Amino acid sequence: MQFGLFEERPQGFASLDELVAVMMKLEDDPLFPAGTNMVIYRGNPRAKLMIIGEAPGTEEDRQGKPFVGRSGQLLDQILQSVKIDPEQDVFITNAVFRLPPGDDGKPLRKPTTDEIIYYKPYLLEIIRLVDPLVMLLTGNVATESLLEKTGITKLRGQWFPWQGRWAMPIFHPAYLLRNPSREPGSPKALMWQDIREARRKYDELLGRAQ
Ligand code: URA
Repeated sequence: MQFGLFEERPQGFASLDELVAVMMKLEDDPLFPAGTNMVIYRGNPRAKLMIIGEAPGTEEDRQGKPFVGRSGQLLDQILQSVKIDPEQDVFITNAVFRLPPGDDGKPLRKPTTDEIIYYKPYLLEIIRLVDPLVMLLTGNVATESLLEKTGITKLRGQWFPWQGRWAMPIFHPAYLLRNPSREPGSPKALMWQDIREARRKYDELLGRAQ
């Protein structure tokens, strides 16, 4: 580990376990004072497909794992619809690792840009250690963190080369829960298109072109 008094960012961890151990003890991060839990990942650290979400919600905060609430159940169904096993084939994490508390007692306000910037080096270190080929960025926060772009409606479904890997912004499952229509051109219909394209790219990169 090369992270200490003279290093500004976490880097050079030998393993994901080592990084996770350090993150679990973080106390100087902007959401530490909120008193919410560190939520880092679920799924397979050897997976070649990574899903990056926004930040934990209340259920994730409670269980200590990302995407285990309603959005997570929908995410699992979306993955399973193209025969991607959410435990074996994917590594699931977030751009921000603690639940941002709501201003007036409501949970899950959107993370601020400062919070996204603070946690980004940890996300980068997770990506380096897990070494995925394909990354799906669910919603604007993950897209802002990794690609420094916003505008999910325009960006979704496009591939962006990113440090020798491929990243695609997709809608956030919570957005699909709020927009349940399946009409052509609806967010759900576009998600179906995007997940099939993600599956195609994943197969291609793994040399499993069909
Ligand atoms: N939404 C996210 O973006 N991440 C989670 O872990 C849960 C809900």
